[in-house]
Amino acid sequence: MATERTLILFKPDAVQRRLCGRLLTRIEERGLKIVGLKMLQVTKELSREHYAEHVNKGFYPLLEEFITAAPVVALAIEGPEAVRVMRDMVGKTNGRDAAPGTMRGDFGLSRQMNLVHGSDSPEAAKRELAIYFKANELFDYEPTLKDWVCAGDER
Ligand code: RTP
Ligand code: MG
Repeated sequence: MATERTLILFKPDAVQRRLCGRLLTRIEERGLKIVGLKMLQVTKELSREHYAEHVNKGFYPLLEEFITAAPVVALAIEGPEAVRVMRDMVGKTNGRDAAPGTMRGDFGLSRQMNLVHGSDSPEAAKRELAIYFKANELFDYEPTLKDWVCAGDER
């Protein structure tokens, strides 16, 4: 089972709605490990780099306006199959379609203002983590609870 790292963003709507604490609690309570955390302002340039796959889509100007409208909280999250586990916790893109129990399904009603970003593959996670975090902003440390979160053959 692969231990992975994934990029999570609490988007401007999550910061403005003061939901960061509740969202982060869900991640910690699941047993995932925070290995990087900071607040930053996404610039237009950073938005274009992060959302390169969407730059030429019709909705991109609105996405850029939204993601640059207030600071975000960026997190590097580590755990077994962390990319998929986090995507499942975040839920479907449109908050109106997202299942109850997911972050978007519990706190959101919007397709654009959907609170949280999560990398959608291990390759995307590597690329996105390198965009948001310098090497010395990511931390390796021994989680003392690890023996109680997963069995030895799952880590
Ligand atoms: P994310 O990348 O932020 O985790 O979201 P996602 O994979 O669920 O969705 P994606 O298709 O990658 O879209 C990126 C973000 O663009 C906004 N969006 N707006 N108006 C629209 O049709 C539309 N479609 C997407 C959302 O903020 C979405 O999360
Ligand atoms: Mg995406």
